[in-house]
Amino acid sequence: MLLLLLGGAVALFALVQLIRLELRAEGDLTLTWQEWWGKKPENELPGKVVWVTGASSGIGEELSYQLAKIGSLLVLSARRENELERVKKRCLEISQLSDKDILIVPLDLTKRSSHEPATNTVLQHFGRIDILVNNGGRSQRSLFVDTSIDVYSAIMELNYLGTISLTKCVLNHMIERKQGKIVTISSVMGIMGAPLATGYCASKHALQGFFNSLRPELTEYPEIKVINICPGPVQSQIIQNVFTEEVSKVNATVGDQTHKMSTERCAQLTLVSLVNNLNEAWVSDQPYLTVCYLWQYAPTWAWWLLNRMGKRRIQNFKSGVDADVAYFKKTS
Ligand SMILES: NC(=O)c1ccc[n+]([C@@H]2O[C@H](COP(=O)([O-])OP(=O)(O)OC[C@H]3O[C@@H](n4cnc5c(N)ncnc54)[C@H](OP(=O)(O)O)[C@@H]3O)[C@@H](O)[C@H]2O)c1
Repeated sequence: MLLLLLGGAVALFALVQLIRLELRAEGDLTLTWQEWWGKKPENELPGKVVWVTGASSGIGEELSYQLAKIGSLLVLSARRENELERVKKRCLEISQLSDKDILIVPLDLTKRSSHEPATNTVLQHFGRIDILVNNGGRSQRSLFVDTSIDVYSAIMELNYLGTISLTKCVLNHMIERKQGKIVTISSVMGIMGAPLATGYCASKHALQGFFNSLRPELTEYPEIKVINICPGPVQSQIIQNVFTEEVSKVNATVGDQTHKMSTERCAQLTLVSLVNNLNEAWVSDQPYLTVCYLWQYAPTWAWWLLNRMGKRRIQNFKSGVDADVAYFKKTS
């Protein structure tokens, strides 16, 4: 009887996941439902104008390469123009695109008055924006008790206000055309909490709340899609660039990042999610994915588990290894 009940619960769980058509990627070997049966990035994205913020490194850089190979027209933004030039050069080397197909628009997300002129620059060049990928942002590694409130202000200015400011400029144009996609690289930390990242989690929760509220404001425009991508830990420059206790203090402890999902896999699943118009996609390895499920379906257990995992996270951080180094192995 118990087995029957358990089997029923598992079947129901699987059915719910299938019906919701959400992407739950569990690592490099998992071929997701959408990858098998859904729309393919290589069929949907050639010729689309895609604006990627945070394109100078990490996930944004890799997204740019994959989009270039597919034949999307690119707008690359971030603060470091020299890095954007490097990414553009590589995009041109690996694709059939020509110089005019890739526009560099240096942009500081915290300088909100520059967002409207930047949008106009893109529109003058390409005449339209099909997809905005809100990817630029920074994480955090510091305990709340040690951290200046200025850091919280800076994180919200960048991750939250910067993102919604640029979205507002681009959305006006998408509303005129009655079509477009706003894709935001949120995080599993937009769903769950995590020690050492109180401000970062708050900023990603803010984005989740914002975009989940914006989506139903746009029901008059069914061809405008609002898509939130929630990656777990991914290899990138994010740890080098984290906010710490003080706005100007750099992170001295980077640690080995190889246990994280590859940047390529994260970018690939992001593109699969966006062409399949998934409202929300969790792009994560274990054990973070399980914690997401628990957080959504059984929060009391998730809070219990996170207290235990969180202790390990803080220990990892204090001992100088990556905070997210494997939870089930002893750290030396
Ligand atoms: N890697 C992960 O584990 C992970 C997990 C979940 C979510 N994410 C999210 O993924 C996104 C990309 O991060 P990543 O992992 O690829 O880290 P990354 O390698 O550090 O890339 C961050 C990008 O954001 C840009 N950026 C930072 N401050 C900016 C500002 N003020 N204005 C404009 N651009 C700015 C950086 O470019 P410049 O310095 O040149 O401006 C860089 O291109 C972030 O939103 C992050 O929260 C990452």
